[in-house]
Amino acid sequence: MFNVVLVEPEIPPNTGNIGRLCLATGSTLHLVKPLGFSLNDRELRRAGLDYWNEVPLQLWDSFESLQLAQSSATRYFFLTTKSQHPYYRVRFHENDFLVFGRETKGLPEKLLAANARLCITIPMHGTRSLNLATAVAIVLFEAVRQQSMAFTQVPERS
Ligand SMILES: C[S@@+](CC[C@H](N)C(=O)[O-])C[C@H]1O[C@@H](n2cnc3c(N)ncnc32)[C@H](O)[C@@H]1O
Repeated sequence: MFNVVLVEPEIPPNTGNIGRLCLATGSTLHLVKPLGFSLNDRELRRAGLDYWNEVPLQLWDSFESLQLAQSSATRYFFLTTKSQHPYYRVRFHENDFLVFGRETKGLPEKLLAANARLCITIPMHGTRSLNLATAVAIVLFEAVRQQSMAFTQVPERS
């Protein structure tokens, strides 16, 4: 339904958990290299449980190669603490790409600057950032909620 992109993820259990979120929502997980772990990592597979093998997964050498392989109509949203635009103001469309940064450094400044209008944030206070898997869950399920509402809208009475 959606596409979740992790740019250079570092912590295996986060990616394992996000794999489950993708499976649960019919979404594809895109991992942009270099990864901070092997795809056979024990902790990754422990967090992903036996679901991991079923996760629709695509691996990319760079974010540019991912973009080059998509149609020009593809929509990307970049999740960062450095934006003022809340994620819940976006009207997500099916197949949108939700792009998340690495655990220690976030998304590269250059990528954020080049896509400033497409940067969105999860408003929060009292902490510098949320856990990566938590951030994915919040935004992905908001996108799914919007789709579900579109699917279940009751037709108006004539
Ligand atoms: C642990 S955070 C990275 C922290 C990094 N020091 C930074 O300031 O970007 C990992 C990723 O989770 C996502 N994330 C975490 N908290 C977020 C928030 N409040 N709003 C939007 N994205 C968030 C972003 O994609 C971020 O790159």
